[in-house]
Amino acid sequence: MTHLQLGFIGTGRIARALIAGLSTRPKTTMYGFDSNAATLRDICNDYPVSSVISIPEIARQAQVLILAVKPYQIADVLAELKPSLTENHLIISVAAGISSEFIRANGISELKVIRVMPNTPAFVGEGMTAICGGKNASDHDVTLARDIFSAIGRVALLNESQMDAATALSGSGPAYMFHILDSLAEGGVQSGLAHNDALLLAAQTMLGAAKMALSGTKKPDELKRDVTTPGGTTEAGLKVMDEQHIRQILIDTVAAAASRSHELMK
Ligand SMILES: NC(=O)c1ccc[n+]([C@@H]2O[C@H](COP(=O)([O-])OP(=O)(O)OC[C@H]3O[C@@H](n4cnc5c(N)ncnc54)[C@H](OP(=O)(O)O)[C@@H]3O)[C@@H](O)[C@H]2O)c1
Repeated sequence: MTHLQLGFIGTGRIARALIAGLSTRPKTTMYGFDSNAATLRDICNDYPVSSVISIPEIARQAQVLILAVKPYQIADVLAELKPSLTENHLIISVAAGISSEFIRANGISELKVIRVMPNTPAFVGEGMTAICGGKNASDHDVTLARDIFSAIGRVALLNESQMDAATALSGSGPAYMFHILDSLAEGGVQSGLAHNDALLLAAQTMLGAAKMALSGTKKPDELKRDVTTPGGTTEAGLKVMDEQHIRQILIDTVAAAASRSHELMK
């Protein structure tokens, strides 16, 4: 493993999750720069991150730069970064809806760019990060990005044309899950459980079902059939889901979010 010099431009919420996951990674030196002095001070107090004083300085210290500012702040960061960029830099952007081409075009033409879309379960080490390599990124660069984002959960390698779909599914997905979780727990309460118990039963059931699906031995439909006895309780519950067309509702949910992501890209 070669020594990794990693620079974070923006050390807010998503950078914090990543830094926490990477803080025990061997052969890794982390630098941070944030325009918010308190945010930067906190991250440097909590984790092995060296504070740097400017964007040009972080570009001098680290060859791999993670852009972790809000999407509307990316253009300003790139304007400041551009004079310090070399073809050896690798830029990894977590900014939602910002294309790798936008970053390259606002940087230098040889710039290697990787675009990633993590999600909030990264804060508990169970993130899902979609990764795509831009024009100049090599397989080695993509492998490095996979390695870095594995520190906060699972990663999937996609084409950039699939990033709207990934944003809609795993980027926005935690909100759908919380909505479903809350509704299931409410069902538990209305059927006689205390709220805390209902939330525990619902959340652990969601976690366990997800783990079974991820084990890959059976498809979700087979796993569903395994729980469903003809004339039993599960069948009665699923009948309501089918009558209310929940499958189509969830398909439409992802489609609407993907379409919005596409609009925002423009
Ligand atoms: N949070 C998530 O769950 C999540 C998931 C997927 C993707 N993302 C992406 O991750 C990116 C960061 O999100 P976040 O939630 O971590 O944001 P955040 O908590 O607001 O962190 C961004 C940090 O960057 C600082 N900053 C602003 N302009 C800067 C500049 N020119 N140079 C250096 N630092 C600067 C901000 O300071 P100020 O507060 O003073 O502006 C803030 O401390 C976004 O582009 C978002 O699309 C986030």
